[in-house]
Amino acid sequence: MKTSVISISEQNEQKLLSKARKIMSRGGLVAFPTETVYGLGGNALKKKAAAKIYKAKGRPSDNPLIVHIAEIDEVYSLASEIPDEFFKLAENFWPGPLTMILKKSSIVPDETTGALNTVAIRMPSHPIARKLISSCGFPIAAPSANSSGKPSPTSASHVFTDLNGKIPLIIDGGDCQIGIESTVLSLAGDKPLLLRPGAITKEMIESVIGEISVSEGILSPLMENEAPQSPGMKYKHYSPKADVTVVEGSSADFIAFLEEIKSEVGAYALCYEEEAHLSPIPYLIFGKFSDELSQASALFSALREFDEMEALRVYAHSPKTSGISLAVYNRLIRAAGFKVIKVGEK
Ligand code: TXA
Ligand code: MG
Repeated sequence: MKTSVISISEQNEQKLLSKARKIMSRGGLVAFPTETVYGLGGNALKKKAAAKIYKAKGRPSDNPLIVHIAEIDEVYSLASEIPDEFFKLAENFWPGPLTMILKKSSIVPDETTGALNTVAIRMPSHPIARKLISSCGFPIAAPSANSSGKPSPTSASHVFTDLNGKIPLIIDGGDCQIGIESTVLSLAGDKPLLLRPGAITKEMIESVIGEISVSEGILSPLMENEAPQSPGMKYKHYSPKADVTVVEGSSADFIAFLEEIKSEVGAYALCYEEEAHLSPIPYLIFGKFSDELSQASALFSALREFDEMEALRVYAHSPKTSGISLAVYNRLIRAAGFKVIKVGEK
């Protein structure tokens, strides 16, 4: 299959959205930009589309997809129970990078939800994503548009690298603004449960609905035989080819550590802009320590760039574990297979 990558502009917008609608109405797939990462979209109400998504990504079919909507009213047909917290959070954070899990209705096929009785729903804020969903007239199931196990794509060229030949169309809407996937919050259990941290932080959610629980899987690996609270937690994620280690400690201690290992072959550092000039080994910059959003938008493309540079080892300076940095930390420790070391402690 030939994969077209088409940049969207005011001139071609109508034509391109209608081309995408035609493909998806027939059960086909289109990759499109959102404010978080690129999505690989198909009709959320068609089994066949879900099957194609799993195949194109090489994703296990028990790992459910997020259903994207353009209008809040669509929730009534997708969910069978809608708690008050849902409306409060939607009012504050939709459209935007928050996915909420609700009990599903019967119109959502088991193929879309990995046979779970719940459905993940998100209303993206990216104008192209919203226009695409509206023009289709059906909700769009879209996981991140990467091959399973690779870092999520934050540009159309990342999508092309992973899915060339597997899908007919990639809508190029430039780089994604946020750069890490949406926050996933379950409202289908007794108490709201944070399953994946993102740009809508725990603190922001709690300011609207009060205290929430946080899944242990966010900061630590699953134990053997432990059932994950979200199927995505059990799969290896975001792994670049290099062996990644997260290094916790102050800037001075991180740089001192790099001095110790600087003769290692193929070693690279992932540093903050403020400290990068002090690195004794080659490095990529991972945003500013003082600017959490800049870290989110730099992380996945840096991980892909290390692959291109054929890095053998990457030492990444640890983000904080609060606010948006918690989301960055959550992705990074997965890329590192949970390998974290502390430096500078006496
Ligand atoms: O920002 C995003 O959320 C992007 C863009 C394209 O919208 N999408 C995305 O989808 O990241 P995906 O499929 O890569 O990640 C969805 C995560 C997975 O970890 C999955 O296991 C979890 O959400 N999930 C989906 N439905 C669920 C459900 N019903 N119960 C528990 N976890 C669910
Ligand atoms: Mg993904």
